[in-house]
Amino acid sequence: MHVYAVALEKGGCGKTAVATNLAAAFHHLGLGVLLVDLDSQGSASHWLGVDVETLAPDQTVLGVIADGIKDRASADSVLRRVVTSPEGVHVLPAHDLMAGLPAQLAAAPMSGLFLLQQVFGDLARSDAPYDVVVLDLPPARGPVLAMALAAATRCLVPVQPEDLVVRALQALMTSVQQVRARGVNNDLAVSLLRNKYAARSNADKILDQLLRDDYGAILLQTIIPIRAALRDSALMQQSIFRYSGPDAGEARGLFLQLVDELVALDGGKA
Ligand SMILES: Nc1ncnc2c1ncn2[C@@H]1O[C@H](COP(=O)(O)OP(=O)(O)OP(=O)(O)O)[C@@H](O)[C@H]1O
Ligand SMILES: [Mg+2]
Repeated sequence: MHVYAVALEKGGCGKTAVATNLAAAFHHLGLGVLLVDLDSQGSASHWLGVDVETLAPDQTVLGVIADGIKDRASADSVLRRVVTSPEGVHVLPAHDLMAGLPAQLAAAPMSGLFLLQQVFGDLARSDAPYDVVVLDLPPARGPVLAMALAAATRCLVPVQPEDLVVRALQALMTSVQQVRARGVNNDLAVSLLRNKYAARSNADKILDQLLRDDYGAILLQTIIPIRAALRDSALMQQSIFRYSGPDAGEARGLFLQLVDELVALDGGKA
């Protein structure tokens, strides 16, 4: 089972856009996919039309964390909280009380570092029909990111040629190196995805070159430009695989290309 953690501390770089549409792309291709919404804003759940406001905390990621803290985290702990979105993507939804998650994790053994790693390990060994798990993360460092990186097979980072993004990227790479170096997750891979990408000004071009020079080996070929379909489909609470406005076809093609690249790196069904 492949676990993709879509992460970067910088807000608005497209983590949720990438997580939801990547999950929808895998689903479109017939793979079993679970989208886990780790952001208290609940934007990934909302994007796919899952109404988080009506859910009790226990029906969301918070319930899985609570089970984990009591040492009862398991595949079943996830499966009984999964909601199927209108387009058929399985979602483990967020709750706004997840804003308190970092403090809650402090009560768990090792600050919950291995909680999701154990849960997904159990999920992979179970009969659950998942080939891929996609994690949407909040724009923050801390125990939630650490727990996600401990559980992920690959961290996917949406980047733009912007100073704050490059600085956030350096911080994220440090977190990744720590997770590897401390033996928490030796095999964690990282890829950068150029999303909302436009290198227009001279400063943009310099940062674009810096990304190529410093991170060329982990830069994906797929580039997702700024496209109205990606913003508008969120308003319609649909992935671009369901949304049918202008540009949707092009955006779909780019996400299918992204899946092809990831399958070439990681393999498909697992
Ligand atoms: N390629 C794109 N083209 C056009 N709009 C995009 C693209 N990618 C993301 N967006 C839009 O940019 C905004 C921010 O994207 P998104 O919410 O995915 O970022 P985020 O990194 O998840 O933010 P946060 O850190 O707050 O969770 C949203 O309105 C989203 O629809
Ligand atoms: Mg987001």
